[in-house]
Amino acid sequence: MCGIVGYVGDRLSQDILLGGLGRLEYRGYDSAGIAVVDAEGALHHRKRAGKLQVLRDDLQAHPLADGNIGIGHTRWATHGAPNDENAHPHLADGGNLAVIHNGIIENFAELREELLDAGVELLSETDTEVAAQLIGREYARTQDLEQAFRAVVTRLEGAFTLLAVHANQPDVIVGARLNSPLVIGLGEGENFLGSDVAAFVEHTPRAIAVGQAQVVVVRKDSVEITTFDGQPAEGEAFEVDWDASAAEKGGWSSFMAKEIAEDPEAVENTIRGRIAEGTVHLPDLESLSEEYFRDIDRILLIACGTAYYSGLTGAYALEQWSRIPVSVELAHEFRYRDPVIDDRTLVVSLSQSGETMDTLMAVRYVREAGAKTISICNTQGATIPRESDAVVYTYAGPEVAVASTKAFVAQIAAIYLLGLHVAKVRGTLADEAIAEIAEEFQAIPDKLREALEEHERIATLANWMSDTRSVLFLGRHTGYPIALEGALKLKEIAYIHAEGFAAGELKHGPIALIEPGQPVFVLVPSPRHEDGLHAKIVSNIEEIRARGARVLTVAEAGDASVLPYSDEVFAMPPTSKFFEPFLRVVPLQIFALELSTAKGLDVDQPRNLAKSVTVE
Ligand code: M6R
Repeated sequence: MCGIVGYVGDRLSQDILLGGLGRLEYRGYDSAGIAVVDAEGALHHRKRAGKLQVLRDDLQAHPLADGNIGIGHTRWATHGAPNDENAHPHLADGGNLAVIHNGIIENFAELREELLDAGVELLSETDTEVAAQLIGREYARTQDLEQAFRAVVTRLEGAFTLLAVHANQPDVIVGARLNSPLVIGLGEGENFLGSDVAAFVEHTPRAIAVGQAQVVVVRKDSVEITTFDGQPAEGEAFEVDWDASAAEKGGWSSFMAKEIAEDPEAVENTIRGRIAEGTVHLPDLESLSEEYFRDIDRILLIACGTAYYSGLTGAYALEQWSRIPVSVELAHEFRYRDPVIDDRTLVVSLSQSGETMDTLMAVRYVREAGAKTISICNTQGATIPRESDAVVYTYAGPEVAVASTKAFVAQIAAIYLLGLHVAKVRGTLADEAIAEIAEEFQAIPDKLREALEEHERIATLANWMSDTRSVLFLGRHTGYPIALEGALKLKEIAYIHAEGFAAGELKHGPIALIEPGQPVFVLVPSPRHEDGLHAKIVSNIEEIRARGARVLTVAEAGDASVLPYSDEVFAMPPTSKFFEPFLRVVPLQIFALELSTAKGLDVDQPRNLAKSVTVE
């Protein structure tokens, strides 16, 4: 989960590389580096521990020689501490070869031994340097970077995207990928490489996603793709459908603040054209026949982190509407327990990035077991959608902050689209019922806008609570996964203890945590719903209130029943039962954002985390 960028053309590569790294910094930000080859065929590099700004400052103070070809890297450490030595690029072949890498080379220990036995001096603790030295030794033998790559990549196990430049071949970047992403950006008389399109979208929207186990040779006016064993191959060409300004902070204090404010558009754009004329239209699923949807007897949602919570949230409506049993699994747990899967199981993966390794591996596992897979994904050309039988893209736009927000609401929207599609095909919802749901669905973006109006009040609360050491979250039904998501947001960016519970579970243990002053967010459903849950959660509020909890309620506007027991009430517009999670999560996202800000923390780049977890 590092960011990788490459450039070859007529422009000065350094600025382009730093620009690309700036957009990829969300993938890792503990060190950064670049290497360029100048017109005389000399390789220059610089790398620094710390955020990209440290490297930028260093380059400004001590400029590197100019060149029209280069590679750049921003790191999230796996092997070796985040220091200057372990930062990329790593050099080999007497300092003439520079290599950058994303992923984990699992057999690096044995390869490292081999190099040490051969007397090679290694300067870092990284698996990347091992790859660089192996390529360097092959280069010394073949004097050809592509051949050197081919000889080495088949020896590497695990996950890698590698890019390299060599001083003796100042017109070419060679790259390879296995289980880790690589995208080419096609320019006019120049070409780009990146971990994702954000690396080059300000220069070109034309892209090619490099396939699994492929080698690429990129010059300023040509791109060649081959398999590891040298057979001609093709990547997947596509056009990026957002422009660079969508990934800019604009006037916002943080990307997370901007992205929460974009919750309404994330849902609006995801349902646009798909919910119309009182029904659902999902041509995205054409590759799976109606007969297939009639035959399935189980739906399994797999994901990690926030995407997993969107799965837990969406599962309620999906099961209710389709009348098919739905289960939700953490991708990394699921595939190690020999799960029962067959061709009547529909597996739906959820991933903002489409590159989460745990989720990708689970997708591969279930496909081998004979199941069909649908990817719900926010990133065009990513690996998971490309390896799935069908994809329902979410249109949340690029999400840069590590803490996922707008992608979460868009994912729930996509699960609901799928649920309506399956219900329509199987006839488990009447047309009138679908029309009623469709109408409420279309109203959600505006209701999200209303929900966002509570921002100032929540910010005031968060400022007041900046010394808080622990916050609990309670919910029932869809409020339960929203409680889990609220707690995750707070842990991630405010670094405080936070836990979400099913409110019904309270008396089975967690109520022992309640002591005077303990802040507890409670997600209260509408009293208008006829399922009795409102009364139950009001009882839970009374129980914690009686023990001194500070009760922070998110409830429907006008719900007077919670007022006597709440220290604060955040009022959400009324909606039907399954649409409440869209609105209930908003105050929790804002609260995490504002508490992190009040504590003076880096909201967008929290410690120890990276946006895209491309290692298992
Ligand atoms: O890209 P994905 O949706 O597959 O990522 C899954 C999780 O890593 C991600 O949601 C993570 O939990 C976020 N940082 C949560 O805010």
